[in-house]
Amino acid sequence: MITVSNLGLSYGSQKLFDRVDLQFTAGNCYGIIGANGAGKSTFLKLISGEIESTSGHVSIPPDVRLSVLKQDQELYNDYSVMETVMMGNGPLYQCSKDKDAIYEKEDFSDADGIRAAELEETFADLGGWEAESEIGQMLSGLGIPVDLHEKQMTELTGRQKVKILLAQALFGRPDIILLDEPTNNLDIDSVVWLEEFLLDYPGTVLVVSHDRYFLNTVCTHIVDIDFGKIKLYVGNYDFWYESSQLMQKLARDQNKKNEDKIKDLQEFIQRFSANKSKSRQATSRKKLIDKLTVEEMPASSRRYPWVGFKSEREVGKDILAVTEISKAVEGVTLLDNISFILSKGDKVAFIGENELAITTMFQILMGELEPDRGEIKWGVTTSQTYFPKDHSSYFEEKSDLIDWMRQFSEDKRESFVRQFLGRMLFSGDDVYKQAGVLSGGEKVRCMLSKMMLSGANVLLLDQPTNHLDMESIAALNNGLESFDSVVLFATHDHQLIQTVANRIIEFLPDGTIRDRRMTYDEYVASRREEAVSA
Ligand SMILES: Nc1ncnc2c1ncn2[C@@H]1O[C@H](COP(=O)(O)OP(=O)(O)O)[C@@H](O)[C@H]1O
Ligand SMILES: [Mg+2]
Repeated sequence: MITVSNLGLSYGSQKLFDRVDLQFTAGNCYGIIGANGAGKSTFLKLISGEIESTSGHVSIPPDVRLSVLKQDQELYNDYSVMETVMMGNGPLYQCSKDKDAIYEKEDFSDADGIRAAELEETFADLGGWEAESEIGQMLSGLGIPVDLHEKQMTELTGRQKVKILLAQALFGRPDIILLDEPTNNLDIDSVVWLEEFLLDYPGTVLVVSHDRYFLNTVCTHIVDIDFGKIKLYVGNYDFWYESSQLMQKLARDQNKKNEDKIKDLQEFIQRFSANKSKSRQATSRKKLIDKLTVEEMPASSRRYPWVGFKSEREVGKDILAVTEISKAVEGVTLLDNISFILSKGDKVAFIGENELAITTMFQILMGELEPDRGEIKWGVTTSQTYFPKDHSSYFEEKSDLIDWMRQFSEDKRESFVRQFLGRMLFSGDDVYKQAGVLSGGEKVRCMLSKMMLSGANVLLLDQPTNHLDMESIAALNNGLESFDSVVLFATHDHQLIQTVANRIIEFLPDGTIRDRRMTYDEYVASRREEAVSA
């Protein structure tokens, strides 16, 4: 149990939050969300005691063990993999060190013998004998092969180090685990392993994440850091998102009677509870959602963008034929004899470790690059709009956003182009900003406005979610889901792939593809089955 009382933190004149009162209890998993710089990492550091608050305090009972996923990957370079993980259980690690030191002594006295026996007992009590096999199992679950378990940390890659530090944080089953963006450097299989570990975990988990799928799977509560306040809500991220939008809509509609409002909210909660079987939350956690009441609904002051694509013309039968495309860049084969045909209604996710191959494919499809061999043929009824991964060249001009949008629009009226900018939350004087000074996320929002304006019937998007906040990703997700024509896209957002794609094309390291008509989760499962039977 963690109790936060009247907590406040300021850096100089910058106030991150104040008067925060919260309690975190065992068995729950709290997802911490908020914009960049809102104070999520700082809040975790206050809980772990790494930094001091400006006012108020955090109290944790003295016998409670707390562990933190370390961010610094180079911290343990002098130690072996096994030792690094073992350090996650401080008392056990110390005991094993003390024990070794005594046995290494040359003049082993009677007193040493007694001390050694005591240490052996403590070691056994702390689960020392099982520790090694437990660590071995964890590491295998995280995809660290056995031959690396005795290696020095320096010999591992960055990605492997992240997994070792994760195993360290989880080893010895602490009562409280703090994780700051744990999924950032993990591959899909390791994320699934972590999700399963956290679902079974009896202690308290506080986790900062931008990954909506992960938050939905593991979280029982959402902790929202917004406008200097930290608020706690029951439910997972989807519930938080849907209900905060609903609350906003209701708040806008002041005339609505109170009873109507409560009825709407109750209906929403019921609908949400009926859907929850889709998520893989453990039963005890599912029960929480049954207990949700209207009071739990968030009234966030956040603003939500709106994304919707409308095709001006229906696509005909022939959409796209890709025939025997090959392409090498600087002697490396990225695409090797690739063929596929798109059909009406296809929403295709391009996946794979080799993002360069995917970007190259997009560039060939858009005619920006010539293939070494093969050809592509777009159907005559199709029109394309493209979100390139690197879109910096679109923002070199010194024009304001109105003029920037005008260059892509037949209708040149300011009122017309403003509609599209407004959907992505550029309103009032924002539209007179210079295109060149926009932040990464703002540029993406402009590109999406441009795509909405195009009226194209085929959308191509190469990593549109990279700089977006979670509200914008959710809006894009809704827009792509309800779009009634063809989409080709690549993203790291698991939920976006799972809810939009009906076909997966994986670009393999040898330049070939694997093309399946199924959802992403089905694809991941089928790939695992193949790996097992191979
Ligand atoms: N030691 C520090 N001194 C001054 N400002 C800091 C310090 N640490 C963090 N900040 C500021 O506090 C804010 C919150 O940071 P952080 O908690 O890392 O945000 P996030 O929610 O992205 O994890 C940021 O504006 C950051 O620049
Ligand atoms: Mg942070």
